Amino acid sequence: MKKVNVRLGAGYDILIGAGLLAQAGSCLRDIGLGGKAVVVTNPTVKRLYGDTFEKGLSAAGFQVSTSIVDDGEEHKSLETATRLYTELSDFRAERKTPLLAFGGGVIGDVAGFVAATYLRGIPLVQVPTTLLAQVDSSIGGKVAINYGQLKNKIGAFYQPKLVISDINLLKTLTPQEMSDGLAETIKYGIIQDRELFAYLGSHLSEVLACDEGALETIVYHAAKAKADVVAQDELDLGFRNILNFGHTIGHGVESASGFKTGHGRAVSIGMVAACEIAVRMGLFSRSELNRLENLLLRAGLPVRIPNLTVEQIMPLMRHDKKIARGKFKFILPKAIGDVFITDAVSPSLVEQVIIDLNEKT
Ligand SMILES: NC(=O)c1ccc[n+]([C@@H]2O[C@H](COP(=O)([O-])OP(=O)(O)OC[C@H]3O[C@@H](n4cnc5c(N)ncnc54)[C@H](O)[C@@H]3O)[C@@H](O)[C@H]2O)c1
Ligand SMILES: [Zn+2]
Repeated sequence: MKKVNVRLGAGYDILIGAGLLAQAGSCLRDIGLGGKAVVVTNPTVKRLYGDTFEKGLSAAGFQVSTSIVDDGEEHKSLETATRLYTELSDFRAERKTPLLAFGGGVIGDVAGFVAATYLRGIPLVQVPTTLLAQVDSSIGGKVAINYGQLKNKIGAFYQPKLVISDINLLKTLTPQEMSDGLAETIKYGIIQDRELFAYLGSHLSEVLACDEGALETIVYHAAKAKADVVAQDELDLGFRNILNFGHTIGHGVESASGFKTGHGRAVSIGMVAACEIAVRMGLFSRSELNRLENLLLRAGLPVRIPNLTVEQIMPLMRHDKKIARGKFKFILPKAIGDVFITDAVSPSLVEQVIIDLNEKT
């Protein structure tokens, strides 16, 4: 097992290892939790892993109530939160009753939001079950629900007491879910951790075959990279922005495609586009960009823009309201493992890169 300490608030640990799910009860006891516990999960995760999780919790003396949230982004909603409040209240959950968010990012976000607000906050434990949730959404304390068309618009910063990442659970993900999580994992290699990037390059086949040692290594490095970034900027006022590497053009592609190009795929394309901009500005070497493209392709991710025009993409790119009209904030690489934030990218260069990276060109 590996451990990452997140230096936020009182500090909390991320435990990463194979088979941790069955021991979750004793991990909770170790940080002083006991009595009742509420598990929030979805039908897929419950069917696959619910028994193992609940048995371990009961064996450690917890009285468990399980709430189910149906699968899908549309259930990250106020309606779901309202129902969960009722179920917590019916179970007579108290200020010390932990809420265990057992699922992917959707469950982590909505259950986290409920934990942040019920009785002004009850202990939250993240038990992430997708690669994306283990390397990204369970770390850093952002919890949220969607409101109408506004994604993640109602939320809070609320740090968990503990994160338990059992890498064995990743074995049942679809190849697409795995590669979506890999896009963000590769991102950490570029923004923060050159060693992780090199490891992915030499061990990708083991990762894709769900080798336990390889999964533990990449989840550990990625979680550590995210923890290091968020600890320097808890409330997302500046430095956390580097986590948006690949997300400026990526967001434009994801939205312009009507979300047919999913988030991980869009970020993959966005990372290539940001690197191409950096190459053309003389900041980054083409051979490093080639290494990135190669790795993304081997991870099953796209590196070219699907058939979408500049006119469709540019208006939907992520804007920073503090920056003058027409300008974008970009996170650009200087080397693998080293990025910086800039607003000095000319819109005409952005446009040209989008045109040149179109798969039809
Ligand atoms: N809070 C943050 O900082 C943050 C960061 C990034 C993303 N997010 C949010 O995360 C969400 C996306 O998360 P996601 O990609 O995990 O999606 P998800 O939660 O929808 O899970 C993806 C699919 O995998 C299934 N699944 C989960 N665990 C499984 C397992 N072990 N085996 C088999 N199937 C499993 C789920 O049932 C679901 O169908 C979005 O709502 C996004 O906004 C939040
Ligand atoms: Zn992302």
